[in-house]
Amino acid sequence: MRKTRADSDTDPAPSPFLLDSFGFRGYFSAMAPLVLLAGASGRLGQALAPRLRAAGWRVRGLTRRQDRSAAALGVDEVAVGDLLDPDTLPAACQGADLVFSCAGGSLALGDVRNRTRYSTSDYQANRHLLATSRAAGVRRFAYVSVLGAEELGANDYAASHARMAREVRESELDWRVIEPTGFFGFFREILEMARKGRGALLGDGSARTNPIAEEDLADVCVAALGGAPRTVAAGGPEVLTRRDIGELAFQALGRTPKLISAPPGLFLGVSRMTGLVNPRLGALLEFGVRVSTRDVVAPAHGSRTLGAYFERLAAHPRAEPRPA
Ligand SMILES: NC(=O)c1ccc[n+]([C@@H]2O[C@H](COP(=O)([O-])OP(=O)(O)OC[C@H]3O[C@@H](n4cnc5c(N)ncnc54)[C@H](OP(=O)(O)O)[C@@H]3O)[C@@H](O)[C@H]2O)c1
Repeated sequence: MRKTRADSDTDPAPSPFLLDSFGFRGYFSAMAPLVLLAGASGRLGQALAPRLRAAGWRVRGLTRRQDRSAAALGVDEVAVGDLLDPDTLPAACQGADLVFSCAGGSLALGDVRNRTRYSTSDYQANRHLLATSRAAGVRRFAYVSVLGAEELGANDYAASHARMAREVRESELDWRVIEPTGFFGFFREILEMARKGRGALLGDGSARTNPIAEEDLADVCVAALGGAPRTVAAGGPEVLTRRDIGELAFQALGRTPKLISAPPGLFLGVSRMTGLVNPRLGALLEFGVRVSTRDVVAPAHGSRTLGAYFERLAAHPRAEPRPA
């Protein structure tokens, strides 16, 4: 049987420096273990692809879009496929040593036309990927869930991640589950609201969290592949209250913070009403209320700070465009 990194976590990844310096990258790349990266075009996927490559993996990026090239995605090769169309997945999984999924439904509040429930876009979709991976003989599977998914299980977004993570853990595969706090990109809306002179806190804003930069989380993901533990909870280096986060956004813009406190119950009512029309948006709003009114803190990783992220965006509003 072909030896892969799954067989031995002690095999060192080929040094990218050595490969480059002898000009043998193409040759070694063909021999490198193959990872199918689902979600390659997303916020986390875009940070993860170069790090997986630097760690010695050949990266095959999965996307639904025919027009995305390997160069545009920053991967070695592209597989066009839709996790909701299982017939498109066997070819994508073919020959992969590892399937890494950070694919899921949109967390964009502005994406109002997208009404697909998370139980479909996150749970069903990744379930198809897990089943196809097993059928294709893939031996390793890594999945990005969300911190606190089990405790927030009444919410469709959290429940979908919790259910999927459970099935990954119950599989016979060599699995990893990553449980992150909110990504920096998720907090971008707060800066955009502050730009318009507005800022809202749910309740008194004292609930704490430690958001994590996509780049730092990508480092965590690569390190998690190297050994134990198999479940890795990850947040950023700074624990902030929700009020701190709102104030950081105004400070980055050089403005005096103007934060209005709103009762969480009101927003829960709005999320329920929204859910009648758009189940995805309703679940996302409800998830937002739940996580903003409780402590969501994970072990600290990385060095990037939310304040510096806001300052970068304040100075260069188009510096980090939202993924297409
Ligand atoms: N953002 C956060 O704060 C946060 C926090 C904790 C956990 N998470 C979880 O982490 C994961 C990654 O988040 P992200 O913010 O990086 O996501 P994102 O930027 O919204 O990207 C989503 C990715 O999923 C892919 N995708 C979605 N549906 C697909 C389908 N049916 N078939 C194939 N690919 C599909 C998209 O690929 P194409 O469009 O190219 O097909 C895209 O690359 C998600 O599961 C999210 O729930 C996010």
